Amino acid sequence: MSDKEIRTWEAEEFKHHIDLPWQQYLDRLEKGLLKRALKPTSWFVDLGGGDGRLHEVYKDVSQHKVIVDYSLDMLLAAQKKITDPRNQNTYLIAADITNLPFQSNVFDGGLMLRVIHHIREPSSALEEANRILKPGSSLFFEYQNKKNINSILKAVMGFTSFKNILDQSPLEVKPLFWNYSPGYIEGLVRQYFYIDQVYGGGIFWNRKLITTRVKKLEDLDLMLAPLLGKIKLTHQLFMELRVKKEVKEDKTFGKTPGNNILSILQCNRCKIGSLEYFKGSLKCEQCGRMFLLSNNIIDFR
Ligand SMILES: C[S@@+](CC[C@H](N)C(=O)[O-])C[C@H]1O[C@@H](n2cnc3c(N)ncnc32)[C@H](O)[C@@H]1O
Ligand SMILES: [Zn+2]
Repeated sequence: MSDKEIRTWEAEEFKHHIDLPWQQYLDRLEKGLLKRALKPTSWFVDLGGGDGRLHEVYKDVSQHKVIVDYSLDMLLAAQKKITDPRNQNTYLIAADITNLPFQSNVFDGGLMLRVIHHIREPSSALEEANRILKPGSSLFFEYQNKKNINSILKAVMGFTSFKNILDQSPLEVKPLFWNYSPGYIEGLVRQYFYIDQVYGGGIFWNRKLITTRVKKLEDLDLMLAPLLGKIKLTHQLFMELRVKKEVKEDKTFGKTPGNNILSILQCNRCKIGSLEYFKGSLKCEQCGRMFLLSNNIIDFR
């Protein structure tokens, strides 16, 4: 994918966005759902992990953590957040999630929240996630549902067309920002994953009405999330996915990665070479390509 095709975020822009009261509400709901879904892992990957917003939830459940994002600015913000030395097992990788610099079958858990809506070809991101995750491991995933109650009411009142809601195709609501119908996204997801559970993100049909924190409503939303996941009328839908993959006799299957980031990395240009430290960078032992290592961020863009 070319840089133009990637919707990177800047840290200030994201902070501004997430500080809105209804975003804070969703932030807490997402963290609550994620906390419930997480299982202990050895290597965990946060795909499109941005400024490390969700790191606090998975940091103690996973031994090694990897945040991947295309935006250096977001990764630098993540680095500022993760200064506690107990968190030194967190690695920051600048890369496109549709062309990842990891060997196959190395992670035993991961998440992808608020990211798939920026990917023009969502199946390529799902395929890559499937490739790097071990068979049977979990991915916590979120997408934005175009058939949400808010859009349906707008169409009923004549503010928007029903066509957008009724058909299955992705709807580009802003440049490089798509909303999907549950049928479309579940069809794609099922090529690579089993869907173990679906959660709906909040009973409020208009989240912008939320201006103050009401803890009891948040608890109610967490409780209702599995039911809302069956109804599928909320704007955000979350899924607990499990990797669907044939176990083949291949050198990566059953291999336990080491404790060092080099033990899981693989050149994303020739797609076979392992990497070694060379003059302050990482060098592919196969094709010779160099990847810059700066501020503890390895740049594979
Ligand atoms: C809305 S932010 C969400 C960040 C984080 N997942 C969270 O929930 O707080 C979307 C992130 O996806 C990143 N992103 C978008 N397209 C990407 C791509 N193709 N590869 C890697 N990161 C990407 C953006 O830079 C941004 O940090
Ligand atoms: Zn290479």
